[in-house]
Amino acid sequence: MRYTGRVAAVTGAGSGIGRGIAEFLAEEGAFVLLNDVRAEAADSSKKILTEKGFRSEIAVSDISTREGAEFMVNEALRHGERLDLLVNCAARQIIKPVEDLEVEEWDTVLNVNLKGAFLCSKAAFPFLAQQRGAIVNICSVHAQATVGGFASYAASKAGIVALTRAMAIEFAPKGVRVNAVSPGTIDTPLVQAYFDSCPDPVRARSEFLKFHPLGRFGTPRDIAEMVAFLGSQQAGFITGTEIVVDGGMTALLFAQ
Ligand SMILES: NC(=O)c1ccc[n+]([C@@H]2O[C@H](COP(=O)([O-])OP(=O)(O)OC[C@H]3O[C@@H](n4cnc5c(N)ncnc54)[C@H](O)[C@@H]3O)[C@@H](O)[C@H]2O)c1
Repeated sequence: MRYTGRVAAVTGAGSGIGRGIAEFLAEEGAFVLLNDVRAEAADSSKKILTEKGFRSEIAVSDISTREGAEFMVNEALRHGERLDLLVNCAARQIIKPVEDLEVEEWDTVLNVNLKGAFLCSKAAFPFLAQQRGAIVNICSVHAQATVGGFASYAASKAGIVALTRAMAIEFAPKGVRVNAVSPGTIDTPLVQAYFDSCPDPVRARSEFLKFHPLGRFGTPRDIAEMVAFLGSQQAGFITGTEIVVDGGMTALLFAQ
C-alpha cells in the first residue's frame, strides 16, 4: 500500500486509462479526486471505486480552461486536504489529415492535451511542493512516430514530452518530480473509436495486433502500474523522463 494517507488527482478519470489509474491508486491506499468533463463518466468511475470500498470524490470540469484546472485542484484539496500526485490523463483525439483539419479542431486537441496539462500542473505545483509530490503526464507513442491523420494529436503529445522535461527542471528544487508515460495501444473507448472509423473494424483490430510483439493490446492496468511507480518514493531519483509502455510496438521495424 504505497499511497496510504496520500491524495492523487487524475484528469480524464471517467474512462479508459484514467479510470484504471484512479482505481489502481485507490487500491494502493490513495484518496483519489476523479476529474472529467463528462459528469456521467466521472460518476460511473466513482461508483466503481465506491463499490470496491475505496474513497474518492469527483470534480467535473474542463481542464483546458484555467478555471476548470484550478477547480479540479481546489476540489482535491477541499476533500483530501493535501495533494501528493497529479496525473494529467485527459485527452481528445481528432483523426483527420492536415488538409481537412479545421483550425478549431487543432485548437481543441492542443488545448485539452497540452494546455490542459500545463494549466493543471501550474495550479497543482504549490501544493505538490508542500508534500515533495509528483506529476505524471500521460503522453503517447505518437510523440515519437506517428501515422497519417494524427497531426494535432501527435504534436500535442510531443509537446507534453517537452513540457515534462521543462517542468522537471523547474520543479526539482522544490522536490517535485515530473515524468511522462507513453502508452502504445491500450484497449479503451478511444482506441475502439479509431477501429470503428476504419472500413472494417474487426479486421483493423487483428491487423493492428501484428504490430505488438507481446501479442496483445495493453490494459489500463499496465499503464497504472507505471504511473503508481513513478509517483512513489521507489522512483525518488527519476524525473524529466519519458517511459514507453507499448508491448514492444516501437521496437519493431516491420511486422513479419
Ligand atoms: N488508449 C490508448 O491506446 C492510448 C495510447 C496512447 C496514449 N493514450 C493517452 O491516454 C490517455 C487516456 O486515453 P484513453 O484511451 O483512456 O481515452 P478515453 O477517451 O477513454 O478517456 C479520456 C477521458 O478524458 C476526458 N476528457 C476529454 N476532454 C477533457 C477535458 N477538457 N477536461 C476533462 N476531461 C476531459 C474524456 O471525457 C474521457 O473520459 C490520453 O491522454 C490518451 O492520449 C491512450
